[in-house]
Parts: sequence; structure tokens; C-alpha cells
Amino acid sequence: TAILVLNGPNLNLLGTRQPEVYGHTTLPDVEDLCRTHGKERGVSVTCRQSNHEGELVTWIHEARGTFDGIVLNAGAYTHTSIALMDAIKGTEAKVVELHISNVHAREAFRHHSYISPVAFGVMAGFGVKGYTLAIDALIAHLEG
Ligand code: DQA
Repeated sequence: TAILVLNGPNLNLLGTRQPEVYGHTTLPDVEDLCRTHGKERGVSVTCRQSNHEGELVTWIHEARGTFDGIVLNAGAYTHTSIALMDAIKGTEAKVVELHISNVHAREAFRHHSYISPVAFGVMAGFGVKGYTLAIDALIAHLEG
């Protein structure tokens, strides 16, 4: 089983960006945690991050046939990107939508997601721990 952990805009700033909301763990540390967790679970985990919507779209396309599922934190594109939604729908990607913060407890503009209708599940509000929880959720989903 191969899992892609895909992070969108501004998540490269993890650890220093609004630590009261997103915590003090950096993205490289989160990615290490994901890869280590994957090893423990016997799955391969690949991590990527981009600030560019089109690059995320391309990576979702390329994931077809390479990865069995995607843990996607699309950042603010969650709330704006029909293109990401269409990419997931168009490639029939199995996606867990992830948010570090509880988006539903925040500003109203974070309550709508273009990703949720095409994701099989949503993880939000568990801090960076959510990434490993989402990997487990994805494995459970894939193993049916
Ligand atoms: C986020 C929540 C989004 O609303 C925000 O734009 C982000 C991060 C989260 O992980 O909590 O960039 O996806």
C-alpha cells in the first residue's frame, strides 16, 4: 500500500505560522512522523507540499496508479478550489481531507469545503497528530 501525504499552501510555514492555531511542529517533522508511522503500519508514505494550486492538481493526476490513497491538507484551497475537487473526482482518488485546526470552530469562510464532497472522510481539529490518525483511517478504508 502506498500513501501520498499532500500539503497545500502555507503549510511549509508550519511551526512558525500562527503556532497558537497550528502548533510548533515543523513540516519536515510532520513528514518524518508520517513516514515513520507508515513503516510501523507496513505502508509506504510519500510526502509533498506545494503553494501552487496547479502543481497540486498535477500531483493528484499523477497519483493515479502510483498511490492507493491521499491524505490531503489543501490549506486555504480547501475553501476555494473547484480545480482540486475536479482533480479528485476525475481521477477517482481516495482522499482523506485533513485540517490541523477545527475549521468548523473558526471563521465562517472556513466552514465550506470543496474537498469534502469528494473525500471519503474528513479529519479536523486534532493538531498535527491528525496526520497519523488520517493515515490509519486511510489504511482502514483501503483494507475495507
Ligand atoms: C488548514 C485550515 C485552512 O482553513 C487554512 O487555510 C490552512 C490550514 C488546517 O490545517 O487547519 O491553511 O487546512
